[in-house]
This record gives sequence, structure tokens and C-alpha cells, in this order.
Amino acid sequence: MQGARIISVGSAVPDLCINNKDISKIVETSDEWIVTRTGIKERRVLTGSNKSVVDLAYCAGMKALNKIHMDPLEIDLIILATSSPNDLFGSASQVQAKIGAKKAVAFDLTAACSGFVLAIVTATQFIQNGSYKNILIIGADVLSKWIDWSDRKTCILFGDGAGAAIIQACSEEDNAILGFQLNTDGKQSDELSIIYKEDISPLNTFKLFQGQFQYISMNGKEVYKFAVSKVPASITKCLNSLHLSTRDINWLLLHQANKRILKAVADRLSIDTSKIISNLSKYGNTSAASIPLALDEALQNNKITKDDIIVISGFGAGLTWGTVVIKWKC
Ligand code: COA
Repeated sequence: MQGARIISVGSAVPDLCINNKDISKIVETSDEWIVTRTGIKERRVLTGSNKSVVDLAYCAGMKALNKIHMDPLEIDLIILATSSPNDLFGSASQVQAKIGAKKAVAFDLTAACSGFVLAIVTATQFIQNGSYKNILIIGADVLSKWIDWSDRKTCILFGDGAGAAIIQACSEEDNAILGFQLNTDGKQSDELSIIYKEDISPLNTFKLFQGQFQYISMNGKEVYKFAVSKVPASITKCLNSLHLSTRDINWLLLHQANKRILKAVADRLSIDTSKIISNLSKYGNTSAASIPLALDEALQNNKITKDDIIVISGFGAGLTWGTVVIKWKC
């Protein structure tokens, strides 16, 4: 078995910053309500015509490549974790073309806020079985395009962004992606979704139904309960499988959904809150981008150092959730 490790990280956010006061001009809410219930103070939103998830994903990917002066031609595979593509057939190929990674195969991975965790795990399989050497994974979402901006229950939560990581093959002894634990409960898929609503087509000769995707719909209370119960269980299972305990953890890097969820998960696991990596006050919930965005910031702030153990958990629509434990080797 080959080893796998993250050798570079990059991220990108749009320029436009919308704070809670700005949102309170379009829906009945307040900075105090949003900060108290979620911890979010502001979020970034992608504006401009013809701007899409591809632009953010490209920027994040290039930053990760440039940091280590890697030629895009060295990339074997690009996995774009996104649930807001600008082409239903996938956006990863557009990112591949823009980056100039001509030798890479590219595909989308749709798993909402768990997307980046699933991308790490998927890339690791390709590396550990010897198929590929360098894989660029990108978590990117522009949920601002799928929000009903008159729905105060959801429009306060989300923001746009992208984060990327390059995973490279290494010796088995240097393997840094230590283990993972993944789950899905499709029976709860209605709790958080962007549903496809169909109607009878004008061409009714074939009784054909055609439709359109709607806005994000969410049962906030149920999603909250799901996250605070399932995520700690996933982390515990994953750590147990690696014969590690919560005492061995240096950093807890959860999907940045809500400050209260982050704290509740840490409390349930008796992990000191000083070990929580969080930047959601500045970006809100950026879906598949949130984990690499927070990882990149923590690295830039020199929080994470060599040999630190980082527990990463994603959770969200599906409902899907999971954990990956890594050792920081750079
Ligand atoms: N501003 C002001 N009031 C608001 C509001 C807003 N933006 N959104 C809802 N309210 C009101 C409700 O109408 C309700 O009023 P009522 O009591 O008069 O009916 C009250 O605030 C409480 O609403 P409720 O939905 O019970 O709030 P909550 O404490 O559950 O908090 C969330 C709402 C969305 C912040 C919380 O449920 C949550 O964070 N859930 C998880 C969501 C999430 O992380 N999703 C993504 C996962 S990937």
C-alpha cells in the first residue's frame, strides 16, 4: 500500500462581503439574533454575470499549486466537491481546462457539506492503491445562487467560497491520512435539500415530466439535532478504529455550519474548545468549501504544526456525515 499526504492547501472567497446588518435590510432579523444562534457575522457572495463555482474553484486550486510551485501537468486527477455546479453534467472539467491540468481526469463529487471529507477519502483510495500520484481536490460552493433571499431561516446561514488541497503519494511509513468513517441516512434527505420540482411537459404526448430545481429548504432544528448526535459518534468510531483517544487530538476541524454545533460536538467528546478551528464568523456556512477554507486559514496563522493530529468531520444534506483523521506532515 502507498501512503498519502496533503502537501499543499489554498482557498478563495469572493470580494463582496455581506454582514448581518445588510441582511437585516432584506429580511426581518438582527445581527444579535444571527450571532447568538449561529456565530455568523458576515459572509462572502459571488457577484457578476458569468461568474460561477468554476472561478472560485480555479483560484483555490491555483493557490494550492503555486504554493509548492507544482506544474498543473503533474496532476493526475481533479475531484471537485460541489453541490452548486454551473453545469449539471459537472464543472470539474471546466476547472481542469482553466488550470491547464491537461493530463488530469476530472469529475464532480456531490455530497453537499460532507463533500470535502468524501473527496479526501476518495482521493486517498486512488493514491493508496497505486493508481495516481498527485490529486487536486477542491471543495467549492456558491449556495448564494440557490438561496431564497426572502427566507430568513436559511439566507442568514450560507456564504460562497472554495478551498483546495493537493494529496500526494508517499511511502507507507509517511502515510498521513490515518483513517476514516462515513455514513448516510437517506431517509432524512428531506430535512435539507434543493429539490427538483417537476411539472407535466407541454409536450404531453409522452406523458413527460420536466421541471426545475427549487431553493434550499431546511428543517433547522432537525439538522441541528442530527449534527450534534451523529458527528461525535462518527469521530469516536473513527478514533477507536485507529486506537486513538480524544486526548491525542490537536485540532478539531468540523464543517463550519454553526458555532453552537461546533461547541456541542466538542463538549460531547470532552475536547477543549481551544482545539476547535473556526472561521465561520467571517464566512458563514460555505458548504463543501468550509473545511479547506478553515484549514488554509489555520495553516496561514501557524496554528497547525508538524505531526499534529487533526480530526476532520463533515455533515449535511443527504443526510451524510463522516470523519477523516489526518496527521499533519508538512
Ligand atoms: N432572525 C430572527 N428570527 C428568526 C430567524 C432570523 N433569521 N430565523 C428564525 N427566526 C425565528 C423563528 O421564526 C422563530 O420564531 P417563533 O418562535 O416566533 O416561531 C424563532 O426565531 C426560533 O426559530 P427556530 O427555527 O426555532 O430557531 P433555532 O434556535 O432552531 O435556530 C437555526 C435556527 C437555523 C439557527 C438552527 O436551527 C440551526 O443552526 N440549525 C442547523 C442548521 C445548519 O447548520 N444547517 C446546515 C447544515 S450543513
